Amino acid sequence: MSATKARQVVLAARPQGSPRLTDFRLEETLIPTPGAGQVLLRVEYLSLDPYMRGRMDDRESYATPTPLGAVMPGESVAIVTASNDPGYSEGDIVLAHTGWRTHALSDRSDLRKLDPAVAPVTTGLGVLGMPGFTAYGGLRVIGKPKPGETVVVAAASGPVGSLVGQLAKLSGARAVGIAGGPEKCAYVKDELGFDAAVDHKAADFAAKLAATCPDGIDVYFENVGGAVWQAVLPLLNKFARVPVSGLIAQYNAAGPGDGPDRLPATMRQILTKSLTIRGFINYEFAAEHYSAFLREVGAGIADGRIRYREDFVDGLEKAPEAFIGMLEGRNFGKLIVRVDESYPSSKKP
Ligand SMILES: NC(=O)c1ccc[n+]([C@@H]2O[C@H](COP(=O)([O-])OP(=O)(O)OC[C@H]3O[C@@H](n4cnc5c(N)ncnc54)[C@H](OP(=O)(O)O)[C@@H]3O)[C@@H](O)[C@H]2O)c1
Repeated sequence: MSATKARQVVLAARPQGSPRLTDFRLEETLIPTPGAGQVLLRVEYLSLDPYMRGRMDDRESYATPTPLGAVMPGESVAIVTASNDPGYSEGDIVLAHTGWRTHALSDRSDLRKLDPAVAPVTTGLGVLGMPGFTAYGGLRVIGKPKPGETVVVAAASGPVGSLVGQLAKLSGARAVGIAGGPEKCAYVKDELGFDAAVDHKAADFAAKLAATCPDGIDVYFENVGGAVWQAVLPLLNKFARVPVSGLIAQYNAAGPGDGPDRLPATMRQILTKSLTIRGFINYEFAAEHYSAFLREVGAGIADGRIRYREDFVDGLEKAPEAFIGMLEGRNFGKLIVRVDESYPSSKKP
């Protein structure tokens, strides 16, 4: 990349169903110059997250859709390369909402300084960042697992699910992970320490899940929806809690589908089992719980009780392909793009 040029990925078209590479466009621009009170950021690591699929659609949600032609949204780890803000100096490493690009200006309102001595900076995008806090907040505020209870979570090898299961174990509960394929299941059980893992791609998935949860399910942390939810629902115990974090199995659906209307049967289960089902967006819990999250999960990482996995992709131009792959389960761990290939490899995690 030339030193005077920046690159960015914009939304070129709104996807119909699954996104395609042609829904994105890589553009070259000039590196911007910081104005009064601004800093110039060079993006090192870009986080790719499932919520970005929702921003590509023009429909009502908790966040505004990304306009056509605008830079794809996203959080990153960036380095301050020029500063007109006395609070930031060249070389500071920050978390920032830069979007999918190599350079960005910031007025500091979206910045958080990162200290590489505390934890590898990329953890700020995963286990010690937004996905980790989603696991922490949803489990602590809604799931509330008690010792001996069974907690089930899908997308269990990813940044949200992996922390849900590990926090459940630390609360004395039994953790069952659901993941796609034997390799991910082995990681969830053997390396993350879940009590069991079930492959949702197996033909007898629903029967296997039932056999793995002989005492039913007390907390189901909902990350995916779809067929996994249909297998979980009959296993929920009386007074079970369901924090609804995400529905990734449905994000690429172009319409309501033509299956049977399951809502009446679902409502009946909610009533007869006194279920608590609550959707949430992580930042709703931030004011009350974020500092405890950083303290507790940070300590767990430092002493090895909490583990995490990162999946790196090299080059901003690879972001669209990697993002499409994540929606199909091709990532294995927190998906991160190494944006600046000139970053010294000795400093790369
Ligand atoms: N509410 C909030 O504030 C909030 C914040 C962050 C994330 N989330 C949600 O949390 C969920 C997990 O996010 P993450 O960042 O940890 O993602 P992730 O696990 O890194 O990646 C998504 C994973 O979802 C699984 N998946 C995709 N399609 C599936 C399907 N049809 N059935 C079952 N599993 C499927 C795949 O894993 P397998 O190969 O194992 O199937 C894939 O690797 C997402 O739904 C996301 O939207 C919510």
